[in-house]
Amino acid sequence: MGRVVLGMLGLGTVGTGVVRLLTQQKNLTLKKIAVRDSTKVRDIELPCPITTDPAEVLEDPEIEIVVEVMGGEQPALDYIRRAIDRRKHIVTANKEVLAKHGPELFEQARKKGVAIFFEASVAGGVPLISTIQKGLEANEISSVAGILNGTTNFILSSMEEKGEAFADALKQAQTLGFAEADPTNDVEGFDVAYKLCILSALAYGRFVKPTSVFRQGISQITPSDIAHAREFGYRVKLVGSTRATGDKLDVRVHPMLVPLTHPLSNVSGSHNGILVTGHAVGEIVMVGPGAGQMPTASAIVGDIINLSSALQLPDFASYFQNAIETEWADTAPPGDWVCPYYLKFSVSDSPGVIGQIGTIFGEHNISIQSILQRGTAEPGASVVILTHAVRNSDMDAALGELTGKPFLKELASCIRIYEPPRDGAN
Ligand SMILES: NC(=O)c1ccc[n+]([C@@H]2O[C@H](COP(=O)([O-])OP(=O)(O)OC[C@H]3O[C@@H](n4cnc5c(N)ncnc54)[C@H](OP(=O)(O)O)[C@@H]3O)[C@@H](O)[C@H]2O)c1
Repeated sequence: MGRVVLGMLGLGTVGTGVVRLLTQQKNLTLKKIAVRDSTKVRDIELPCPITTDPAEVLEDPEIEIVVEVMGGEQPALDYIRRAIDRRKHIVTANKEVLAKHGPELFEQARKKGVAIFFEASVAGGVPLISTIQKGLEANEISSVAGILNGTTNFILSSMEEKGEAFADALKQAQTLGFAEADPTNDVEGFDVAYKLCILSALAYGRFVKPTSVFRQGISQITPSDIAHAREFGYRVKLVGSTRATGDKLDVRVHPMLVPLTHPLSNVSGSHNGILVTGHAVGEIVMVGPGAGQMPTASAIVGDIINLSSALQLPDFASYFQNAIETEWADTAPPGDWVCPYYLKFSVSDSPGVIGQIGTIFGEHNISIQSILQRGTAEPGASVVILTHAVRNSDMDAALGELTGKPFLKELASCIRIYEPPRDGAN
């Protein structure tokens, strides 16, 4: 392989890992790194000059591949656009930019005859993207679902192991470096939503707008939900999924009760776990580190090596044409989804309450699978119900009706239950 010259934007957690791995690659030369603050002490020996002027990377004609590991939407988006415009190939870990601007960037890259590689943008060190793009190319993918955020999985695992409240588990995750000072992106599901947009484009050739992804985070999950789930044979996980339903895509991230016997329920700590279902292969499971310096750098340097090898091909552009449409996909309305539910109500402890709940549920085609009533420290009772599969719109209507009843103090929890994919399920 001939020598390939690289430039990098960013030298933080991931960039530092990339530099470490690149020292083992003889045919790859890192020429310059753009950073925000050139006076910062770096915990690696610098292999090349650093600069605060991104143009020194973006405008250098010798640099063929730009590695973008700055993160955030801007100025990363502008820098990627400028690099593509100058016919530089891109390797990026930036899920936010790809999710929000993917169609435009892939179209620009196609016109300029360059490639965008982005293995590190979803599931860190797990080679999920190349598996869908290459290994499963012969398949019609019907579903990609899994645990795509290590921070929330770490928090939920700690809550279960130690019986901790969400806030305490979050604080511990921040202390250990698994969660950022502002955890909103992770705990409210934005990070997973971005990843699902990218996975939808890979699996179905169509990007979904991040704002069209149904999104619910984990901040409302309580230790009692986790304990009840366990009692019924489930574990609470933040599950993201994208599925083809006719000409629409069903794309969402929300907490779910996953059966203890299901592979996703055993993905613990900061790991990611993903199920991909294809018509020929059936279901495959991938599990591994979804973030962290070296796992993420592993994905990026893998991309750089593959791209550099491809650059030796005589017809590079046609080999890497991205089969992604520039139109945004429509998403299926949540009301049509069908899945079982876990519900927890706080009610007054008076006769006939359970009967009234059952009657309202029956009127909305909701059948109860299990029910548990417990006394509470305050006057009243806590009622936990597991339902059979129900249409979301029926559940919304029943909960709306229950909310007006004098016996209902609070709908404390409403969490969907994971079922293996089938038409319209979950
Ligand atoms: N961390 C992970 O485990 C992980 C996993 C998967 C994907 N990713 C993705 O990888 C990317 C990088 O993440 P990270 O954790 O390495 O971030 P980070 O530690 O915050 O590093 C960001 C780097 O970008 C530089 N930078 C920021 N704004 C800049 C600007 N305007 N001009 C030039 N340089 C600028 C910073 O410069 P200074 O050093 O001078 O401040 C820093 O070196 C993100 O897209 C992230 O989503 C991260």
